[in-house]
Amino acid sequence: PVRVLTGITTSGTPHLGNYVGAVRPAIAASRAANTESFYFLADLHSLIKAQDPARTQRSTLEIAATWLAAGLDPDKVWFYRQSDIPEITELTWLLTCVAGKGILNRAHAYKAAVDRNRADGEDDDAAVTAGLFMYPVLMAADILIFNADQVPVGRDQVQHIEMARDFGQRFNHVYGRDYFVLPEAVVDEQVATLPGLDGRKMSKSYGNTIPLFVPPAELRKLVFSIVTDSRAPGEPKQVEGSALFQLYQAFASREDTAAFAQAYADGIGWGEAKQTLFDLVEREIAPLRERYLNLVSRPGDIEDTLRDGARRLRERYATPLLAQLREAVGLRDLS
Ligand code: TYM
Repeated sequence: PVRVLTGITTSGTPHLGNYVGAVRPAIAASRAANTESFYFLADLHSLIKAQDPARTQRSTLEIAATWLAAGLDPDKVWFYRQSDIPEITELTWLLTCVAGKGILNRAHAYKAAVDRNRADGEDDDAAVTAGLFMYPVLMAADILIFNADQVPVGRDQVQHIEMARDFGQRFNHVYGRDYFVLPEAVVDEQVATLPGLDGRKMSKSYGNTIPLFVPPAELRKLVFSIVTDSRAPGEPKQVEGSALFQLYQAFASREDTAAFAQAYADGIGWGEAKQTLFDLVEREIAPLRERYLNLVSRPGDIEDTLRDGARRLRERYATPLLAQLREAVGLRDLS
C-alpha cells in the first residue's frame, strides 16, 4: 500500500489553513483504497516556539479532537502523538549525523530569523535556538521512520520534505542500503496557501487566523473582517490577490467558484460576498464543530486513543526499525 503521513504542530488553536492544507486532504487520502495513513500531533516541534506547558497540552487536545471531528477513524489510520514515540527522537540524532549543515542554513524559517536579526542590526543567530535550526531534521525523522511515500501539506512545508529526502538519501548512501523510502510532498493546488484575514498566509505567527471551531457568530465576524479594497457595490472586483476569493475557492466546487468569479466581475458588494463566503464555510464546518465540542469534553478518551495508537505503532514499526538502524550504524542492540 501507499503510505501517507502528515502532522500538525501543537502550538495553538487549529485554523482554516490547517484544515484545508492538511486535515481535509489527509482524511480524503486515508479513505482511498490501498493506503496506510499516519497522522500525528507534532508536540516536540511545538516546543521550538511555544514554551508554555499548559498551552502545549491544550493545543494537543484541540488538534487531536480536530482530526477526529474531521472524520479520522483511529481503527483504520495510525493516529498518535510524536513524543509518545521515543524512536523518533533517537532517529533524529542518527539523521543529524548525516545532515549537511549547509542545507539547514537554507531552511526558510531559520533564514527568516537571520534576516530579521540582520535588519535589527543584531548578530545573525541572536535568540535563535538550536531547536529552530534543527527543526527540519526532526521533521525528516517523523517522515522517514514510517517510510512514508506521500506527505500532504501546505506549500510552506515543501522545502522540509525535500530536506527529508536529502537526509534519507544520504543515510542510505553512507550505510549502503535503502533503509529509507524517499517521500514526496502532495500539495492541493486549489488551496496551496490559504490567506489569512490580512491577505498574508494564514499563520499562527501572523495572528491573522480564522480558528476552525469558533461559534458561528464569531466566525461571521471574522469573515467580515477580511481585508478588501475600497470598490463600491456595482464596481467590478478583482479576483487576483483577493483573500476573500481564495478562501471561497478553498471551500467551493469548481462551478461555484466560476459563478463567484462572475459575481466579482458583475460588481457584487463586499458585504454580500462576505455573507456568501460565511454561509459556505459554516455549512462545511457546522457538523464538525458539533463533534469537536463533544470530543474536547472527553479528554480522557482522546488520551486513551493516542496512547493506544503509539503503543501499537512502536511495536509494529518503530522499535524494529530502530533495532535495524542501530545495527546498521554499529551501535549495540538494545533488546
Ligand atoms: P503546521 O502546524 O504549521 O501546519 C500544519 C499543516 O497545515 C498547513 N498549513 C497551511 N496550508 C495552507 N494554507 C495555510 N495558510 C496553512 N497554514 C498551515 C501546513 O502546510 C501543514 O501541512 N512542520 C509542520 C508539522 C510537521 C509535519 C511533520 C508535517 C511536523 N512533522 C511531518 C508533515 C510531515 C508544521 O509546523 O505544520
